[in-house]
Amino acid sequence: MRASTYFISTVKEAPNDAEVISHKLMIRAGMIKRLSAGIYSYLPMGLRVIRKVEAIIREEMDRAGAIELTMPVVQPAELWMETGRFEKMGPELLRVKDRHERDFIIQPTSEEVITDIARQVVRSYRQLPKNFYQLQTTFRDVRRPRFGIMRGREFTMKDAYSFDRDAAGAEKSYDIMFAAYQRIFDRFGLTYRAVAADTGAIGGSRSHEFQVIADTGEDAIVYCPTSDYAANMELAEALPAVAARASAAETMNKVPTPGKSTCADVATLLGVPLEKTVKSLVLATELRDEEGNVKGTQVWLLLVRGDHDLNEIKAGKVEGLKGGFRFATVPEIIEHFGIKPGYLGPLNMKKPVKVVADRTVASMSDFIIGANEWDHHIAGVNWGRDLPEPDVVADIRNVRESDPSPDGKGTLAIQRGIEVGHVFYLGTKYSEAMKATYLDETGKAALMVMGCYGIGVTRIVGAAIEQGHDAKGIIFPDAIAPFTVAVCPIGMDKSPAVRDAAEAIYGQLKDAGVDVLLDDRGERPGAMFADMELIGIPHRITVGDRGLKDGKVEYQHRRDAAATPLAVADVVAHVRNKLTA
Ligand SMILES: Nc1ncnc2c1ncn2[C@@H]1O[C@H](COP(=O)(O)OP(=O)(O)O)[C@@H](O)[C@H]1O
Ligand SMILES: [Mg+2]
Repeated sequence: MRASTYFISTVKEAPNDAEVISHKLMIRAGMIKRLSAGIYSYLPMGLRVIRKVEAIIREEMDRAGAIELTMPVVQPAELWMETGRFEKMGPELLRVKDRHERDFIIQPTSEEVITDIARQVVRSYRQLPKNFYQLQTTFRDVRRPRFGIMRGREFTMKDAYSFDRDAAGAEKSYDIMFAAYQRIFDRFGLTYRAVAADTGAIGGSRSHEFQVIADTGEDAIVYCPTSDYAANMELAEALPAVAARASAAETMNKVPTPGKSTCADVATLLGVPLEKTVKSLVLATELRDEEGNVKGTQVWLLLVRGDHDLNEIKAGKVEGLKGGFRFATVPEIIEHFGIKPGYLGPLNMKKPVKVVADRTVASMSDFIIGANEWDHHIAGVNWGRDLPEPDVVADIRNVRESDPSPDGKGTLAIQRGIEVGHVFYLGTKYSEAMKATYLDETGKAALMVMGCYGIGVTRIVGAAIEQGHDAKGIIFPDAIAPFTVAVCPIGMDKSPAVRDAAEAIYGQLKDAGVDVLLDDRGERPGAMFADMELIGIPHRITVGDRGLKDGKVEYQHRRDAAATPLAVADVVAHVRNKLTA
């Protein structure tokens, strides 16, 4: 490609709304342009990267036996009503009406449509297994679109859906996709980790996220450096701090703690470790009668150790909280505890509540709680002796760095990640709701067993930049760079020797199948280098009169501190040698 006829539109300033480096750099490199919140045009330079990402995904999906199709972006609501997701999905699902006032949605994912296709086209067990995928525009009306195309509203996703005869087959399809994802992310040249994930709203029982490691990542991922345990924060199991509760050693006593309502302040005031304190969180659920009408409120007291944090996803798995919960209102708290929030605890309540203790709290003795009396705490508290055992003991907290690994093979470490891919075992959730059956060997109708597999195509571009950048701009891995090599002639317009050499090298690299950009715009060297560096082209050949006198040009990798002289005749071989993809 010749830069003079291509479209390079770099800019000096990043927009004010760009919070992360990848967003800033993509705008500055002229890769994307914002149209509306979370909605971007992919400019030519950005689209080249996206196309390379897509090509790798396509190759590996095809290699893994998946079959490409395309499903509509605009989908009739009726299908989404069959699975109940038209109502359930909430405002992330963009609903539109056509001219006949009929409801449609803009696809955020396509389980309904693919299951509808499968139930019509798949008749016999002989047609299974099948895995269908698409690379398609996706719309989710996310609450806070940010980070450019990393968390957009409109984005490109690769979504795949497998259909099998039975659970064993579906497990196999899952494993095949898992392996394909590993190949895909290996080929991108990114540092990533596959972590076990919560199955969340889509449901199902087995799920892994593929996370690109980056400090700016929104997800906390948990792993054990001495074993293969890896899970996201929602799922990572927190073990109790001690295996068995120690017996009570202190007598219970109320202590004045004026103005000290946080666990940290109380621990400091009393000169005890924060690990002695217990934090109270009050939740509420609605109680319903058989018809589903609200007939009252159940108040819950959740207890985690003072230095621990509640994990709401885990709390949501507790029996009774599964149907959804909210934080209790101040009047509800006063009604049950007798005071406003600040000094709440599980002793001397005004009205009974359901007490859920985190496993660690249940294993504590001689601990400190709020006294349900303003400016007071109670120390030396013990389960069984001073208050009844908790109604529920459960894992409801986030794990922390150095916690024991649940596999017993070391301690946990935490790093930040960007979720770029997700594989789910779905089971019969959708085939049951939509009656997607096939005829088995005995001629009986049986439900297809499904899996679904997503990759955030456009998000990967952002994630790659989060992982590869410096003060000058982007550093793309070879596999997904918009161009692999930039040929930068200095003074091409004035020097026929430079022009001839640059043209020759450009032609040779092209013939060798290298994706090369010849910067023939006639920019001054400084501006030309700055553009190529900002755009993140990983390899550069600089052609100038000075070097040509000795038959030399310069090679520099985007990560190299300095350029290396290179004989003109060696350019193609040298570049080939340097390519990683
Ligand atoms: N708002 C978004 N912008 C860009 N990519 C997204 C967005 N939401 C999801 N993705 C990508 O699509 C993939 C599949 O999404 P999925 O797992 O269904 O979504 P989520 O994890 O948000 O529930 C994710 O792994 C992610 O890479
Ligand atoms: Mg996900």
